[in-house]
Amino acid sequence: MDFKRNIVITGGAGFIGSHVVRLFVKKYPDYRIINLDCLTYAGNLANLKDVENEPNYVFVKADICDYEEVRKVMAYYSVDGIIHLAAESHVDRSIVDPFTFARTNVMGTLTLLQAAREAWEPQGWEGKRFYHISTDEVYGARELTHPEGIEPPYSTVASGEHHLAYGEKFFTEDLKYQPHSPYSAAKASSDHFVRAYHDTYGMPTIVTNCSNNYGPYQFPEKLIPLFINNIRNRKPLPVYGKGENVRDWLFVEDHARAIDLIFHKGAVAETYNIGGFNEWKNIDLIKILIKTTDRLLGRAEGEDIDLITYVTDRKGHDLRYAIDSSKLRDQLGWEPSLQFEEGIEKTVKWYLDNQDWLDNVTSGEYVKYYEQMYK
Ligand code: NAD
Ligand code: DAU
Repeated sequence: MDFKRNIVITGGAGFIGSHVVRLFVKKYPDYRIINLDCLTYAGNLANLKDVENEPNYVFVKADICDYEEVRKVMAYYSVDGIIHLAAESHVDRSIVDPFTFARTNVMGTLTLLQAAREAWEPQGWEGKRFYHISTDEVYGARELTHPEGIEPPYSTVASGEHHLAYGEKFFTEDLKYQPHSPYSAAKASSDHFVRAYHDTYGMPTIVTNCSNNYGPYQFPEKLIPLFINNIRNRKPLPVYGKGENVRDWLFVEDHARAIDLIFHKGAVAETYNIGGFNEWKNIDLIKILIKTTDRLLGRAEGEDIDLITYVTDRKGHDLRYAIDSSKLRDQLGWEPSLQFEEGIEKTVKWYLDNQDWLDNVTSGEYVKYYEQMYK
C-alpha cells in the first residue's frame, strides 16, 4: 500500500511518544507511522496495545545512536518526516549517569539529523520535516514572583492574567538558554544541533519546548505516577526539600494535539513553547493527589497525608519552570483542553484502573518480555 506520508516517531514506546503514535495512527490512516525505539527501561510496547495491529503502524527496534540502522530505516520506508521524542528523560538519573544522557540526547539527535540530511538533501528539502521535541528546562529556572497567600495555580490558561498582574517572568521563546541539570544541558545541546542543521544545510526543522506532562502511561519514577502508586501501596511519599518547587503541568494528550498541529501547521525554523499556564507548588499538587487517590480508592479523603516524607533535596533542583505558550495560542490557536483538577482525576483513575500495567512496570516484568521477543 502506498502511503501519503511516511513518518518516523522516535521514542514512540515511551510516555509522550505513545500518545503521539496513537493520535497519528488513528487520525491519519493514510500516513505510515514508524515507531523507532530501542526499548530502554522507559520503553514499553504495552503502551500501544490498542494500535499495534493497525495497517499503518510499524515498530522498528533500533537505537537512534546507530547511524547505519537509522539510515536503513530512512531509505527502506522513504521517510519524509521525523518527530523526535526518543531521549533519556529523568532528571534524577541524569545526576547519577550524565554520560548516558549525552550519548542519547546529544549524539542520538545528531545521528538522526545526519541520517535525515543524507536521505533528504539530494532530493531537495521540499515536503520534509524534522520536528524536535524539547523541554522548558533548557531555559533554566525562575524565581517565585506571585505574592504570598495566592491560591494555586499561579497562572491561568486563557488570559495569562497572573502573568500581567504579578509582573511574572515567564519563559518566552527568545530567552537565553541556561540549563542546570545534565538532562537539560543535553537537551539544550540537541536543540542547538537541530537549529544548526537548519541554518547550515537548510533542513526544515521545528523545535518545541514543553512543560511537565502528566497522564496515562508515564513511567512511575516521575512525581505523579510514583506518588499515585505509593499512595495505593501506602508507601512513603518522598518530597524533595520543602516541596516549594513549582512546575507547570500539561495533560499529555494536549501535548500530543499540539505536536500534531505544529507538525502540520508550524513554520519552519520556528520555536514554540507549549504549556498549560498551570503552575503548582509540588506540595499543593501532592495534597490534591492524596485526596483524589484516597477518594477513588474508597478511603477517607486525606487519610494518607502522613505518607508525606520530606527528604534531601535534588541536587541543583530548579525552583520554578514557568512556560509562556501564548505564541502557540496566538499564532496556531492551540490551548490546553483540560482543567488541572479534571486532568488529575482522569489520571489517578487511569492508574487505579490499570493496576496490572503499574505492577508490570514496577516489577520489571515488561523488560523480560521484550528481551525474549527481540533477542
Ligand atoms: P520517556 O522516558 O517516557 O520515553 C523515552 C523513550 O525513548 C522510551 O520509549 C525509550 O525506550 C526511548 N529511547 C531512549 N533512548 C533511546 C535510543 N537511544 N534509541 C531509541 N529510543 C530510545 O520520555 P517522555 O517523558 O515520554 O519524553 C519524551 C520526550 O519529550 C523527551 O525528548 C523529553 O525530553 C521530552 N519532554 C518530556 C516532558 C515530560 O514531562 N515527560 C516534558 C517536555 C519534554
Ligand atoms: O519540565 C519538563 C520536564 O518535566 C521534562 O523535560 C522531564 O523529562 C520530566 O521528567 C519533568 O522533569 P521534572 O524534574 O520536573 O519532573 P519530576 O516528575 O522528576 O519531578 C517533578 C517535581 O517533583 C520536581 O520539582 C521534583 C519533585 N519530586 C520528584 C520526585 C520523582 C519530588 O519531590 N519527589 C520525587 O520523588
